[in-house]
Amino acid sequence: MLPKAIRRLTRASRKNEIAWRYGYNLGPTLSHHLHRARLAGEASRVLADLNRDGIAVTSVDALLGGSSLFPDLLGAVGSIQRERADDIARARANAVDDSAIGQKTFLMEYLGRNPVLEPDSIFARFALQAPLLDVANAYLGMYTRMRYYNVWHTFASTGKARESQLWHRDREDLFIMKVFVYLSDVTPGAGPFTYAPRTHRRGVVRRDPEFFLEGKVKRTDDDQMSAVVPRERWITGTGVKGTIIFADTNGYHKGGLARETDRLMYTCMYTSQASESEEFFVRPETIAVRGGDPRAFALSR
Ligand SMILES: [Fe+2]
Repeated sequence: MLPKAIRRLTRASRKNEIAWRYGYNLGPTLSHHLHRARLAGEASRVLADLNRDGIAVTSVDALLGGSSLFPDLLGAVGSIQRERADDIARARANAVDDSAIGQKTFLMEYLGRNPVLEPDSIFARFALQAPLLDVANAYLGMYTRMRYYNVWHTFASTGKARESQLWHRDREDLFIMKVFVYLSDVTPGAGPFTYAPRTHRRGVVRRDPEFFLEGKVKRTDDDQMSAVVPRERWITGTGVKGTIIFADTNGYHKGGLARETDRLMYTCMYTSQASESEEFFVRPETIAVRGGDPRAFALSR
């Protein structure tokens, strides 16, 4: 095991963008530079919004068109709901237990807390569709790693905002591409994903808001956030079924405070290939996406 000081130095150097890109991720950066797909149409608008704001809103129809796997995804989620109706009812009954901080009882993950990635499943194949990969790779400027997917069912509840319902930055990597695909209509009462634009690393907002600690995790409430990015600039991702939100969740965001109706969505995440985080580092399998070709991904350990 490396001495503590060296481990600390290594961790700090990952937060330097030049070391992150041209040290830890040199190979994926160079190969993307040589072979990258040119984005056009909706994908290029999405990329421009992401670069400027850290968030972009589009839809299955606009980005993926007729060849989308969306109907298959809906079908698979519908089967889970039929097969696990009793589990879902039980989870809903527990949703308001706010004594259980850290357990996100307001949220049911249909594929489990730590899903094992199955390359042939619709949940992996959806994330590996070329338009999604092209945007993720172009945003990070390298071939990324698709490292997570799940289906989240957020229950309507009246509990106080907590955990990821409060403003925070995700820590998995310097640049993170998360994709949220709404499988139900998400109204203001269904806990829409909400983002403070331009708080990502490429954004112009450099000041961090005040925070408080929830356990050991930094959280920021609405008043604290509005002192840095005024409320009228927040981007609230309401949308009909089929809405797709791309967000660099290293920028400030919150979501899932569903008050009136449940929210159902599919989510997946792409990071740099060299990224590590405590949450995901222990994951036994990750899928490395090479060359943006869905057939070319390989399981790596
Ligand atoms: Fe988050």
